Amino acid sequence: MTDWNERYRKGETPWEKGAPAPPLLELLGKVDAEIWGDGSVLVPGCGTGHDVRALAAKGFPVLGLDLAEEAICRACSHPEVGGESYEVGDFLDAGWRVGKRFSAIFEHTCFCAIDPARRADYAQACAELIMPGGCLVGVFFLTPYDPGEEWTGPPFPSEMEELDSVFSPWFERETAWVPQAAYPGREGREWLAVYRRR
Ligand SMILES: C[S@@+](CC[C@H](N)C(=O)[O-])C[C@H]1O[C@@H](n2cnc3c(N)ncnc32)[C@H](O)[C@@H]1O
Repeated sequence: MTDWNERYRKGETPWEKGAPAPPLLELLGKVDAEIWGDGSVLVPGCGTGHDVRALAAKGFPVLGLDLAEEAICRACSHPEVGGESYEVGDFLDAGWRVGKRFSAIFEHTCFCAIDPARRADYAQACAELIMPGGCLVGVFFLTPYDPGEEWTGPPFPSEMEELDSVFSPWFERETAWVPQAAYPGREGREWLAVYRRR
């Protein structure tokens, strides 16, 4: 099992790009703000919070959540840009969810970081946390490995059909596309999907 805190402590964080996910910036320039709703947005597995701050800079109240205390300490060390806050916690812990509701969740490299055996638990957490009519907006890293490369994960790969299937008990997919903007090396390997909570 990955010790995420230790990875941050040792600086073994190849996912840390020092900037928000390019597909999120593409999305923010393209899609109606309605998808974020009028409540708070949750960013699970937010790491050091670049995506959180990109959303907060657009005026959305945002909560960044991460298991790793070290990541959250670094996130909190950034100057505040808007209505963002951070919390250490486990997205898959049902106890953490009690009494919490969000108008949207922004997913980016948390789904691919968790054990694939827990993907249904991830989807259930989204379903319990997003208000009816709210959205799960995900940038899913589909192919973290090159063809033929043996994968041991994390990150773990996923497929569009699998994503549709895992979220289908609670969500309808509204739109999806392969983002044009990407970190170098991730071009064409991500899928941006917006799922609406029934
Ligand atoms: C691959 S990193 C991506 C971090 C961030 N999204 C980014 O792109 O920089 C995965 C993150 O998910 C966090 N994480 C893994 N499982 C989690 C869980 N069950 N609840 C909350 N955070 C989790 C890890 O601590 C880590 O920061």
